[in-house]
Amino acid sequence: MSKIIILDFGSQYTQVIARRVRECGVYSEILHHKTPLSKIDLRETRGIILSGGPASVYAKKAPLPDARIFSLGVPVLGICYGLQLMAHLLGGKVEKGDSREYGEGILNLKGSSKLFTGLPKSLKIWNSHGDRLTALPPGFKTVAVSDNSPFAAVEDAKRRFYGLQFHPEVAHTPKGLRIVSNFVLGICGCKKEWTMASFISRTCDAIRGQVGDGRVILGLSGGVDSSVAAALLKKAIGDQLVCIFVNNGLIRKNENEAVQSLFGRHMNINLKCVDASKEFLKLLKGVTDPEKKRKVIGTEFIRVFERARKSVGKARFLAQGTLYPDVIESVAIGGNPAALIKSHHNVGGLPKDMDFELVEPLRQLFKDEVRKVGEELGLPKEIVWRQPFPGPGLAVRCLGEITAEKLRILRDADFVVLDEMKQSGWYYRVWQSFAVLLPCKSVGVMGDERSYDFTIAVRVVESQDGMTADWVKLPYDLLGRISNRIINEVRGVNRVVFDITSKPPGTIEWE
Ligand code: XMP
Repeated sequence: MSKIIILDFGSQYTQVIARRVRECGVYSEILHHKTPLSKIDLRETRGIILSGGPASVYAKKAPLPDARIFSLGVPVLGICYGLQLMAHLLGGKVEKGDSREYGEGILNLKGSSKLFTGLPKSLKIWNSHGDRLTALPPGFKTVAVSDNSPFAAVEDAKRRFYGLQFHPEVAHTPKGLRIVSNFVLGICGCKKEWTMASFISRTCDAIRGQVGDGRVILGLSGGVDSSVAAALLKKAIGDQLVCIFVNNGLIRKNENEAVQSLFGRHMNINLKCVDASKEFLKLLKGVTDPEKKRKVIGTEFIRVFERARKSVGKARFLAQGTLYPDVIESVAIGGNPAALIKSHHNVGGLPKDMDFELVEPLRQLFKDEVRKVGEELGLPKEIVWRQPFPGPGLAVRCLGEITAEKLRILRDADFVVLDEMKQSGWYYRVWQSFAVLLPCKSVGVMGDERSYDFTIAVRVVESQDGMTADWVKLPYDLLGRISNRIINEVRGVNRVVFDITSKPPGTIEWE
């Protein structure tokens, strides 16, 4: 299969470049920039992309590639730092910019270039760089300029070297995918051979290569990521996979049965279900502080999982449904204040000292790609297109102290919300929809009697990635049905309100 090598110089967007190449139907491999040529399998390499990166080419320890990549005769595309590097190594000049160019810009094409085939003369682009190219290497010419850069896109068409000062891979360069596809399909001549089916078969081979005849344990939550990981591992290694599902008592109505029926019976996966709901509830008694709740649940989860793991026998490998955004988020935590707003999300996060080798078959994929893998593996729509559900579960939606009775009320109300969302077709159109149980009672009248019961808040939001969100303007009749059904079907509730807060300032979950 023809492929593109992406040399990584530390850009936060390197995986996004790989993703764009996949969107073109082409296989790519990301390699560390220091990888010597002798270690690169060049047989089917049709082109090389040099990623961006935070360094300066004239810094003492500037990351450099094996310079022989320029003598291979394959096309090279340098993006941002990659362009500066290419210019620097091939005899051009790079200087420190007066100010960092960051944000949107307009690119104007000068003349024609294969890189811009099919694109208009003027394009919206996204910049993020400090240094700039000030003189071209011999053989190069400018093909596009931007407000701040007379060398925004350059090429040496004869040697098939191309450079872009901006980032074609990010969503803020709306036509960037066409630029990437012009490079990989048009200039490099790659064939469209990469499909989900080929990803699955390659990944299965890689899993088999990694684990041999060893046993693999996977914590299955029933969410999209761990479910797709389970299905993929089952396909790769069959009964060597053992899944552990922990019922922490904070899961949704019918969830336990649904997981057992799909994974245990239908897919015939070796599944161990642990009912730890009583222990969790006991530990949460009297806990009202949201952060403390999360910590108690996280710590206990690890304890229960460890016990379950020991009881299923020895295993050398631990599989996780880690996706690429989880990888960046955990790397970014130090510098990213947003990550500190709520203590870290992944309740599945396991202690570092565990004696396991990790198997993470989805590590390079983005959520929508994982969904496609799930579909290709035949998982049902209800799993593949599930809305996100937080690790600490209903605990962060049951405000104040958690009791079995409050959980019963919340679970029943949540069931109504989801049922109505699904029946009306809205479920798959929004990011999340759920019920929250407020910790106070209010007065109402039911029949001829005064009632004094709990309030349910309904939260329905739309979002791209959960980082920002807006409340969804659901039709009044749907809201009316949700409210009527909750009051009629859920004992203990006499009032329903609708949350009309965006994020920020509100978070999606209430705790
Ligand atoms: P917030 O409430 O921070 O949520 O606006 C953003 C997104 O993250 C989900 N979320 C969690 N997911 N473990 C998770 O796996 C958690 O502890 C957790 N807390 C929030 C939330 O449902 C939303 O999609």
